[in-house]
Amino acid sequence: MAHPPCWRLLAVFILMVTEAHASGNTTRCRLVHNTTSESKVLSVLEPLTNQNFTAKTKVADEEYTYVFQVCGDADGMKDAGLVQRGKDGKQVLIGNYSLTQVVRGSDWLLLIYLGGEKYHEHCSKEPRKAMIMISCDRSKVAGPLTVVLEDRERDTECFYLFELDSSAVCPVIESRLSTGSILLIVCSSCLAVYLITGFLYQRLIVGAKGVEQFPNYCFWTEIGNLSADGCDFVCRSRGSREDPPTYRGVSTEPLEEPEERDDHLLPM
Ligand SMILES: *[C@@H]1O[C@H](CO)[C@@H](O)[C@H](O)[C@H]1NC(C)=O
Ligand SMILES: *[C@@H]1O[C@H](CO)[C@@H](O)[C@H](O)[C@H]1NC(C)=O
Ligand SMILES: *[C@@H]1O[C@H](CO)[C@@H](O)[C@H](O)[C@H]1NC(C)=O
Ligand SMILES: *[C@@H]1O[C@H](CO)[C@@H](O)[C@H](O)[C@H]1NC(C)=O
Repeated sequence: MAHPPCWRLLAVFILMVTEAHASGNTTRCRLVHNTTSESKVLSVLEPLTNQNFTAKTKVADEEYTYVFQVCGDADGMKDAGLVQRGKDGKQVLIGNYSLTQVVRGSDWLLLIYLGGEKYHEHCSKEPRKAMIMISCDRSKVAGPLTVVLEDRERDTECFYLFELDSSAVCPVIESRLSTGSILLIVCSSCLAVYLITGFLYQRLIVGAKGVEQFPNYCFWTEIGNLSADGCDFVCRSRGSREDPPTYRGVSTEPLEEPEERDDHLLPM
């Protein structure tokens, strides 16, 4: 209890290990199109298995509780991935996890359970179908289930739509840094250490004030002037003939008549 962050790290580690060795409760789902890519997609939902997610809706005098489970018997009903329970406790199968489809996006996953109980009068009496949209939210393992809509006012392809937030479907963060960024980090760290120690040294030991607190102040101003001259020399190759760089040296005096020397850069 003394070091809660340690425990959290340990928990994350254990979670990663168990996930890696998952024999997989998601394999209880039967995919309609059983392809290796789809079963791989389904396995990311492993942390959400063995849980009943519930959501309530109330439209007019109709009150329903929806229970969802990832590849397991929702509300204890056999084969049901999604169940609707009425006020009287009557269960209606909305989706059968033995008829699963799954679609994966960059930070979401759509789980579809087909083969629910047939509609009595709507939707050409086709079987019910549940769609559960699971979106990435790194702050929770699994958020509450919400009912988005029941679309049954059409001839075919009706569905119940649900939403759930979960970290399980988040894209894996690329932790590998490129060589360039590592170099950049190392260089900027060195520069920061150099500046800070130099600053402290100048201030506390030498007792410098103002801009002179910067380490090797003279050296850097010199470098600045030298590089300015270097630029000048390279960019004004023609002008330098009449005005050799040795003439200006490292002086910081304003250059005389700069407009005149720029004239030759303009097209005639
Ligand atoms: C599958 O679920 C059972 C409980 O129903 C649990 O004991 C088991 O560890 C789970 N398997 C995996 C791989 O998570
Ligand atoms: C897919 O089919 C293989 C055998 O062909 C089976 O072992 C596996 O459990 C199936 N996966 C799903 C998710 O249905
Ligand atoms: C889900 O709910 C049913 C009915 O309430 C219950 O029998 C079952 O144990 C629950 N499953 C889990 C994993 O909580
Ligand atoms: C669920 O689907 C499977 C495979 O089609 C079927 O065998 C089973 O009877 C279905 N369960 C229910 C409760 O309809």
